[in-house]
Amino acid sequence: MTARFSGKTAIVTGGASGIGRAVARQLSDEGCHVIVADINSDKAREVAESLPTRSMAFALDVTSEAAWGDIMNDAEETFGGLDILVNSAGIGFADNFEDMPLAHWDAMMSVNLTGTFLGCQKAIKLMKKTVAPGSIVNISSIAGLMGGEDIAGYSASKGGVTLLTKSVALYCAGKGYDIRCNSIHPTYVDTEMLDPVAEAFGDRQIMLDGMAAQVPLGRVAKPGDIAGAILFLCSSEAAMITGHQMVIDGGQLAGLPAQHTT
Ligand SMILES: NC(=O)c1ccc[n+]([C@@H]2O[C@H](COP(=O)([O-])OP(=O)(O)OC[C@H]3O[C@@H](n4cnc5c(N)ncnc54)[C@H](O)[C@@H]3O)[C@@H](O)[C@H]2O)c1
Repeated sequence: MTARFSGKTAIVTGGASGIGRAVARQLSDEGCHVIVADINSDKAREVAESLPTRSMAFALDVTSEAAWGDIMNDAEETFGGLDILVNSAGIGFADNFEDMPLAHWDAMMSVNLTGTFLGCQKAIKLMKKTVAPGSIVNISSIAGLMGGEDIAGYSASKGGVTLLTKSVALYCAGKGYDIRCNSIHPTYVDTEMLDPVAEAFGDRQIMLDGMAAQVPLGRVAKPGDIAGAILFLCSSEAAMITGHQMVIDGGQLAGLPAQHTT
């Protein structure tokens, strides 16, 4: 076991599943205490109990300001403060734009954007009390850097996360807080979030093959691919990186595939 995060404390929202669960595992494997925060409290408990370091689950609805207050109190009382926040909780709906229910729009804005805002705001208040540097990583998407024909609400919420992150980074730097804030922009990641899409396709492998065909490296991402980059941003190796949008897309946004030669 390496000790990159030995003695540190992290809150990982969406920690019960997918990318968040992979982050919780990798952080704990490297010595971090992890608060696995998720609206799915049973799965959060399962993940927390499987971790090698002293960790705990917290039933957090990221849209609740009061719940964010409670989790920060728990972090301070149980672990003495907070070093890392990874905002991974997220939801997505795909819709024909003209028919998109307002409820889908509202839910994505609330969880993806308001939830991330509340997390950043409450984490800063606790992190600035401690001497150790703090790091916040927000999970946006490649859809937070470009639009999507049938994911307008998701894309708008993730675009909000992109610029919220830069603003938080500048705010902390301007105040002289030793707290960095960066965003992560994954391509398709094979997690539970894709389950409804796979169901619509009728076959998960056909869905994954179609997605992989859009990625120059030829495959969709695994949760561990994303977690590794998040750990780098949380570590002291990234001490000079803030306000950055880290794209993890197998080359998808790099440019156009060959269309002019055979
Ligand atoms: N999977 C992908 O293809 C992909 C691609 C780009 C970005 N992302 C983003 O990565 C993040 C993680 O996605 P994932 O693929 O791991 O999804 P996932 O569905 O596996 O995990 C998301 C977790 O968020 C939790 N959650 C949902 N609403 C919540 C709420 N109100 N409060 C607290 N927890 C809540 C869920 O219970 C779940 O455990 C999301 O923000 C997602 O938008 C995913």
